[in-house]
Amino acid sequence: MSTDNKEAELALTDQVVASFANTRDERLRTLMQSLVRHMHAFVREVEPTEAEWMTAIRFLTDTGKMCDDLVRQEFILLSDTLGVSMLVDAINHRYATGATDTTVFGPFYIRGMPERAYGENMAFSPGTPALVHGRVLSTDGTPVVDAVLDVWQTAENGMYSGQDTAQPHGNLRGRFRTDAEGRYAISTIVPVSYPIPTDGPVGRMLDATGRHPWRPAHLHFMIDAPGHRTLVTHLFDENDRYLNSDAVFGVKPSLMVAYRERAADHELGRRFGFKGPFREAHYDFALDRS
Ligand code: BEZ
Ligand code: FE
Repeated sequence: MSTDNKEAELALTDQVVASFANTRDERLRTLMQSLVRHMHAFVREVEPTEAEWMTAIRFLTDTGKMCDDLVRQEFILLSDTLGVSMLVDAINHRYATGATDTTVFGPFYIRGMPERAYGENMAFSPGTPALVHGRVLSTDGTPVVDAVLDVWQTAENGMYSGQDTAQPHGNLRGRFRTDAEGRYAISTIVPVSYPIPTDGPVGRMLDATGRHPWRPAHLHFMIDAPGHRTLVTHLFDENDRYLNSDAVFGVKPSLMVAYRERAADHELGRRFGFKGPFREAHYDFALDRS
């Protein structure tokens, strides 16, 4: 390639960057100019053929077509599987404050799920019975009263209610409130590992690159409390085989819990109405004050 051509390529980048010079919103100007510089550098590095460029356009078009307002957001799934969601999460929670670690929100949250009493069962499909309990504290150790823990997990078939319309409304979902000592208790089933949706372009990308779609077993939490910052996180089963290869890179060591075997006559089983053996997971959350 002639030096002239190379210079023209570099001049094109400068020209596009300069076209945003009059953007009134300074942050938008920074974002657009940086985006152009990075995209041009990427294109310069990989030197796509025109057919490859068209494949990329089709991939992004298909990704958009796979999005709806309710249960499917293929662009978030793409961001998750490329580690972008966890990078944004890390950048926004850079400083250790003593609060519980955060992780990806995921696309399967549904607002307005039933309010449930302390220790109430939220599982209306089969599974290994489990009690998940502990406390919600401020980072200084003070119990947080009236924190709302919005929780969701998949059924044993690896699907969330809402995603799987055969499940009863509110199955494995609910809003639990802490008591006067900041305690919460959830009767549920032990979560299972499950594959993220693979019937769209993200599934094709995982397949073409030899990656698996599995997430380690987890229970989702969004915890809101007066005077505190909202916490979005999961608790992972510490024995799951996918902990080291989560398809969306969401695992943090501080978020692993044991589901301990408990006999039918265990004191907690009697207190929470378990009819036979069950598992117990215990975890205390710490929230930042706002
Ligand atoms: C989830 O855990 O629900 C999830 C997170 C990211 C992508 C897909 C699913
Ligand atoms: Fe999940």
